[in-house]
Amino acid sequence: MNSVCEIFGCKYPIIQGAMGVICNPEFVAAVSEAGGFGTLASSFASSVDILEEQIKATRKLTSKPFGVNLQVMNPLTPQFVDLIVENGIKTVTISGGSPKTLVPILKSHGLNTVTVVPSVSVAVKSEVLGVDAVIAEGSESGGIQGLTGASTMVLVPAVVDAVSIPVIAAGGIADSRGYRAALALGASGVQVGTRFIASRECTAHSNYKEAIVAQSEIDTRLANLGPFQVRALNTPLIDKIRQDPSLIGKGFSEEGLEASWVKGDMEAGLLPAGENIGLIHNILSVTEIMNEMITGGENG
Ligand SMILES: Cc1cc2nc3c(=O)[nH]c(=O)nc-3n(C[C@H](O)[C@H](O)[C@H](O)COP(=O)(O)O)c2cc1C
Repeated sequence: MNSVCEIFGCKYPIIQGAMGVICNPEFVAAVSEAGGFGTLASSFASSVDILEEQIKATRKLTSKPFGVNLQVMNPLTPQFVDLIVENGIKTVTISGGSPKTLVPILKSHGLNTVTVVPSVSVAVKSEVLGVDAVIAEGSESGGIQGLTGASTMVLVPAVVDAVSIPVIAAGGIADSRGYRAALALGASGVQVGTRFIASRECTAHSNYKEAIVAQSEIDTRLANLGPFQVRALNTPLIDKIRQDPSLIGKGFSEEGLEASWVKGDMEAGLLPAGENIGLIHNILSVTEIMNEMITGGENG
């Protein structure tokens, strides 16, 4: 069995990337049901109860394994650990900061632990900490990233050369060509974000999904968030923020993101998306996306 499938307990080595408030239980369960690994996000979870409800709702929809992404930046993350253990989650991903404190705690509970890494040096440090795998996330990916970064094409083989644990490629993967390319670079699996937003099951508003379908590979923009930056769709709001960074509070607040991602107000918040929007031309079901990714290469 593929090493990533063993760690995550899934049939295919395709991990659905955590995506803040749009990782609804129906969507996460659909990915696991289709043979991938669905991931709930906790980055914007403002209470333990909210995450618990989501775990329980997802569990009702699938008996297959799914996971939770822990964001180091969320102050509630230490409290989420007990909840995760009590609710039978077996694999977690960690992102958004140093995993140094979290990894030993998670390992002591017997959890499979996977960190998102932007560079070879962070991947090596993660391996030393004892993680089971790393997700090498290239700078073309949608969402938050560091101020410096390398693209997936360079980062993945560099990380593969530097560590002996499995490497999962993230950033820019939207179809069977990206999936096969990632494996050719030495990755043992892929993590996919933006392509899954444009799925029927994802709770993202149709304005967000349609903008992903409509925009091209040169349409994403980077906005500075201080120590981080975010890659998002080209909207008037991101232009304003790029000219006046003090507006970022509006563009990346919990309320702003909920209003734009879920309610469709395109000017209420930034809409993260990767360069792979240039490869996404339709809104499909999760199963259709997964099937094309796995079998498309055999026909194409
Ligand atoms: C809307 C959006 C929200 C995201 N939120 C998170 C998050 O909460 N935690 C995280 O680890 N990664 C987050 N990411 C990154 C994804 O999990 C994934 O690694 C990335 O989207 C992969 O690149 P791709 O968009 O090119 O497929 C987010 C990405 C997007 C597009």
